[in-house]
Amino acid sequence: MIVRVPGDKSITQRALILAGLAEGESRLAGLLGGADPRATAAAVRALGVEVPDLPPDGSPIVVRGRGRSGLRAPTAPLDLQNSGTGARLLLGILAGRPLEAVVTGDASLRSRPMRRITEPLTRMGARFEELEAPDRLPIRVHGGPLSPLTYDSPVASAQVKSALLFAGLSAGVPVTVREPNRSRDHSERLLHALGARVRTGPGEGGRWQVELPDPPDRLAPLDLRVPGDPSSAAFLLAAAALGAAPAGLCVREVGLNPTRTGFLDVLRHMGVALTATDLDGELPWEPVGDLVVDALAPLRAVEVGGDAIPALIDEIPILAVLAARAEGVTRITGARELRVKETDRLRALAENLRAVGVEARELEDGLEIEGTDAPLEGRVRAFHDHRIAMAFGVLGAQGGNAIEVDDPAVADVSFPGFWALLEALAAASRKPGPRGRPDDDPDREEAAGRGPVVTIDGPAGSGKSTTAREVARRLGFRHLDSGALYRAVTYALLQAGVPEERWGSLSAHDLARLGVRAVPVEGDVEIHLGERRLTRQLRGPDVTARVSQVARLPEVRRWLLDVQRGLGRAGS
Ligand code: S3P
Repeated sequence: MIVRVPGDKSITQRALILAGLAEGESRLAGLLGGADPRATAAAVRALGVEVPDLPPDGSPIVVRGRGRSGLRAPTAPLDLQNSGTGARLLLGILAGRPLEAVVTGDASLRSRPMRRITEPLTRMGARFEELEAPDRLPIRVHGGPLSPLTYDSPVASAQVKSALLFAGLSAGVPVTVREPNRSRDHSERLLHALGARVRTGPGEGGRWQVELPDPPDRLAPLDLRVPGDPSSAAFLLAAAALGAAPAGLCVREVGLNPTRTGFLDVLRHMGVALTATDLDGELPWEPVGDLVVDALAPLRAVEVGGDAIPALIDEIPILAVLAARAEGVTRITGARELRVKETDRLRALAENLRAVGVEARELEDGLEIEGTDAPLEGRVRAFHDHRIAMAFGVLGAQGGNAIEVDDPAVADVSFPGFWALLEALAAASRKPGPRGRPDDDPDREEAAGRGPVVTIDGPAGSGKSTTAREVARRLGFRHLDSGALYRAVTYALLQAGVPEERWGSLSAHDLARLGVRAVPVEGDVEIHLGERRLTRQLRGPDVTARVSQVARLPEVRRWLLDVQRGLGRAGS
């Protein structure tokens, strides 16, 4: 079975910001349309750059950059919501421009440290006012001409490194950053694509050094395609390793930048046979390839720490979940940075693992997890953290486990459509594929990987459903009655007693909490509310009277589109 994951979050955020700083039209394809990049895109727009809405399917957009001197002061605070990368990288850009702006975010982002960025930027000459609490957003930045900087970062953080490089770029001054270990290098690669010279290599004292020696006045626009996010692919590979996705699973066109692929090595050590096929030359600035899970063996515990951490920093939640199913005790160390992610991930992982019956100990800088093969059950908390929610979603998808995630909608931050795709994979791992589903024919598999979708529309009562069902049957596609999804949301709203006047202000979170699920089965997609399959209920007079009102709500449409894209990624 062939699937795809949405575009890389780190590259998407950087591409949006840098395209705004470049002069002229940048063409960006494959961007992630999740909540983090949407927040970053809105902030870049507020600086006067023309940025279209991010398409949910990665189709190309054109960003019209005005050059670094074309950026305008925003008229309202820039709300980066949950996006630490967006907030920190923009603080870097703003520091180098003669503007004033307030940067803020949601409760999770407002609890994360910012002095790691503002302290070195202050040394360059920028001024910051912490408006509520020390070291935290909201922060007012007073940017302006900056002095060159050479900085020894105490942490291996791509956000710190990138914020400083971007400040050098926006102010036109040289910057050198040395980090204890090499962190992800997407900024360096993109700067190169913009025509800036970047030098990298081992520096003093065994540190990794990155230099922007002579930032150019004018940056050339970008023309790039963003590969699939390896951090999102990690959840699907892990699902396969747990038997919650079919063996032979292929995740297509994933970024294979060596500063990001540490998790693949760990998976292999745990006993999963994986092939990474390099698609050399397609994306010259970033390596990209297909990942195939060839064979599974019982998972073995591993020790992970030290230099290995930066290349799998975002994969530790899913690694911890695999450790819960591995034989032996897994020890993760040197991962103190996890305490300042979207939540304190070390605490969240230990608490959640224990909540479902796994023995897990929190270390000061890591975790110890004792694998078990007992059924795992319980309710876990996402703590506003997409990767915590998805990691436990994968564990819950393993046969025999019953795990409820309190806030599944938070996955939208980096992986829209995650839950539908996970359900489709789990369904495919339980049953042989529907007739004509591409399980053994490579050409059909290729087609399914692109998830071709045939849409049948027409006036009410014209026979759309009957026609669509028959077309799907003959093509061997899975049939989805998208109208039934709108009816299911309407039914759920009525059942939950949500007053009609509140329907227009429901967020994706609220909608996800209703519990409407699209469950792929052989040749079809069933609509469930919680654990209950909905059939006749969808045709009741109350639902019929209100469904068109619900189907007009933009947030409902967007949310259901994500659900449908997730199904599309799993096959035709
Ligand atoms: C990111 C860098 C990492 C990572 C985050 C995205 C980036 O954070 O955890 O999800 O895009 O630069 P740090 O730089 O703080 O390690």
